[in-house]
Amino acid sequence: MSVWRIQGGEKLAGMTPVQGSKNAVLPVLAAAILTDSETELTNVPALRDVDASLHILRKLGCNISREGDSVLIDAAPAAGCELGRDLTGQMRSSVIFLGAVLARSGRARIALPGGCELGPRPVDLHLQVMRALGAQAEMEGDDIVCRAEKLRGAHIDLPFPSVGATENAMIAACAAEGTTVIHGAAREPEIVELQGFLRAMGAVMSGAGTDRIVIDAFRPKKHVTWSVMPDRIGAATLLCACACAGGDVELLGSEPGHIAAVTDALSAMGARVDIGENRVRIICRGRLTAPGRVVTRPYPGFPTDAQPLLMAAALTARGGTVFEENIFDRRFRHASQMVRMGADIRTEGRLAVVRGVERLHGAHVLAEDLRGGAALILAGLGAEGETVVEDPGHVDRGYESLDGALAALGAHIGKN
Ligand code: UD1
Repeated sequence: MSVWRIQGGEKLAGMTPVQGSKNAVLPVLAAAILTDSETELTNVPALRDVDASLHILRKLGCNISREGDSVLIDAAPAAGCELGRDLTGQMRSSVIFLGAVLARSGRARIALPGGCELGPRPVDLHLQVMRALGAQAEMEGDDIVCRAEKLRGAHIDLPFPSVGATENAMIAACAAEGTTVIHGAAREPEIVELQGFLRAMGAVMSGAGTDRIVIDAFRPKKHVTWSVMPDRIGAATLLCACACAGGDVELLGSEPGHIAAVTDALSAMGARVDIGENRVRIICRGRLTAPGRVVTRPYPGFPTDAQPLLMAAALTARGGTVFEENIFDRRFRHASQMVRMGADIRTEGRLAVVRGVERLHGAHVLAEDLRGGAALILAGLGAEGETVVEDPGHVDRGYESLDGALAALGAHIGKN
């Protein structure tokens, strides 16, 4: 259990780099076993989810070396096809290994981790994708079991633009004979990143970033190098931190286009947001104004992962905000913890109604999921007195050093 202690009331100031993207690197790590190639990655963030993925790759037989933010994966010896609960329990999104393991070994058995902090995480779309590509795909208890003598290119229609199912389809389709077309694909920047990586591996693929992705062929390369894109939710976290605490913060090495929905909302709240090439600066002076309504949707809509972070900023804004959550069922768990800090929030189904209060006060609160935990830390930056966030390890799954980054900007924050 980590305990975060935040003394609220310090404004933030300075420049800070943005870490490599968690959600981009995880499918890239999985895809690295598609062939016998050697993959050299840079800008890999030091996160618990990355540690868990590298552990899975080692168990599958890969040789891995890691130095600083670089990771070298030699996939030639990879042979395993089973990921037991001991491996997948460490990482919520281990289903992302399905396409790669099936493509490499012709079969895959992946134990799904038990209940998820964001509510049920169905895998029907992942199974649909594998079946469309010619695999047998079933659930056996909590295990996904897939088998295919040969994967065949196919037209895949996704009824919902699932990020993970789109990624699994792209990865598995690389090993399929013939052309695959994914209709209704997710359009997140991480999908564009995965296409870039798969092309570097030898895929002939186009369309990522639109709802139609075409995978035509795959001519594996021996050696692949790739630098992981900046983390857009990490960037959104630092911007919302400044909105909570007040101050003047500049993010270096970010992709402003990826976080337009978040910067638009912060501008609407009265923050000054200056956007340059690969950098974003936010200046927050005085009390912000509530953004009115925030509706989470697949990209390019407002990201569900940033909903708790913006809510932290809305707690003390002037006026009311309605948050409508359309992606995950249990994504307001931070709200009851925020109420302990003096926030005024009512939740009902998909809606959370926040009435801005003049000030929050420090409290003992519990991080119940990754972004909700980060949001409590942000709320603590703007609260009077000490906030103590007890965290069974969620926040470190996604942030390299949130305490270090905030402390470097002047926050009084510690973790033990
Ligand atoms: C990814 C991100 C996560 C982000 C989410 C939505 C990673 C590692 N995680 O998660 O941070 O919050 O996208 O932007 O990249 N669904 C089904 N059946 C399926 C798969 C998904 O019904 O087979 C539903 C889910 O329950 C959820 C919705 O689709 O309600 C979105 O899920 P999805 O886009 O698949 O998210 P992930 O890939 O799990």
